[in-house]
Amino acid sequence: MSTSNSVSSLVQPLGETPPEAVVFGGTDAMQALRERLAKIAGANVPVLIQGESGTGKDIIARMIHAASPWKSGPWVKVNCPAIPGTLLESELFGYEKGAFTGAFGTKPGRVEMAHRGTLFLDEISELDMSLQSKLLQLLQDGQFCRIGAQEDKKVEVRVVCATNRKLEEEIANGAFRADLFYRINVVNLHMPPLRDRISDLPELVAFFLECYNRKFNSRAKPLTTELMNALRKYHWPGNVRELENLIKRYVILGTEEAISSDLRPQQPDFFSADINVDGPISLKKITRQAVHELERKIILKVLQHHHWNRKQAARALNISYRALLYKIRDAGLPSNRAARRPQAGNAPNDGVAAD
Ligand SMILES: Nc1ncnc2c1ncn2[C@@H]1O[C@H](COP(=O)(O)OP(=O)(O)O)[C@@H](O)[C@H]1O
Ligand SMILES: [Mg+2]
Repeated sequence: MSTSNSVSSLVQPLGETPPEAVVFGGTDAMQALRERLAKIAGANVPVLIQGESGTGKDIIARMIHAASPWKSGPWVKVNCPAIPGTLLESELFGYEKGAFTGAFGTKPGRVEMAHRGTLFLDEISELDMSLQSKLLQLLQDGQFCRIGAQEDKKVEVRVVCATNRKLEEEIANGAFRADLFYRINVVNLHMPPLRDRISDLPELVAFFLECYNRKFNSRAKPLTTELMNALRKYHWPGNVRELENLIKRYVILGTEEAISSDLRPQQPDFFSADINVDGPISLKKITRQAVHELERKIILKVLQHHHWNRKQAARALNISYRALLYKIRDAGLPSNRAARRPQAGNAPNDGVAAD
């Protein structure tokens, strides 16, 4: 595993952000968010951005930085789940020479790199308990300690955190420190899901269409009324990111048929007992599907809790490691952290994966 990222590669340049009019649209919830953002961006207080995946948390975090007094300072983003648990501490806080085997030199962490700038911690719920304590110390007194160092260091950073999980639930489960939650949650911004701001759809569609037509040098036409209506009815589990990808595919493939099949209806909720009783009902089949779905949800939750360590997850679930691997495949779950995005063409029957 490499720990040799240079400072400059971690202090990322700001990416391109869509125009504010597109980002916020016209719904009340987004306008309230815009006003809140304008009020808080200038004050150096921690901000917690909550919302489903693809709702624009990254964009908002970058806007907070761009409107802050430290806008000319560094913007340092840490995607917590992307860095293996064992490396995350040294990535965040750095280390001294000889702190552990392989620490041949001294390395500053990303916290230090964000001095007089913004530290954006994405998917904060993925931090384990010991890192949560170190982050708490940083937020309380601006101090932290490199691994293997004798003394604490002081740093001035604006901390912005994001999560798509309900941290209140994580606290109730004992997976997230309540005191840290209060520290990072001085200001809370909630990103509404796309299905709750569907009146903004036409502007978003027009924006992405224009964008990708330009990018791919294409001339894809505006969508038909029928397709726009289908988009309005769709439940958008992947939010604006999903819409963006859909329009990108439309521009590349050039036909509406190519994307209309992507608008699959929502999975039935087996637990609501909201079952159509007009036709024949197979109790056996419904029960089997419900058990399957419940099993999938529990396995996913336990895997997330154990940072995708399948051996620990199997122990926690009190099933064998092989049984867990089988169930992961059977449920169509990705087999490791790196491949956590749902994949098409999952092959449930191609044997049990090796570790
Ligand atoms: N409100 C928005 N306006 C315009 N584009 C958006 C908006 N929200 C998300 N996107 C698009 O969706 C993609 C994902 O957004 P991102 O900020 O990374 O979401 P999140 O961090 O909540 O998962 C981005 O590439 C961006 O272009
Ligand atoms: Mg994000």
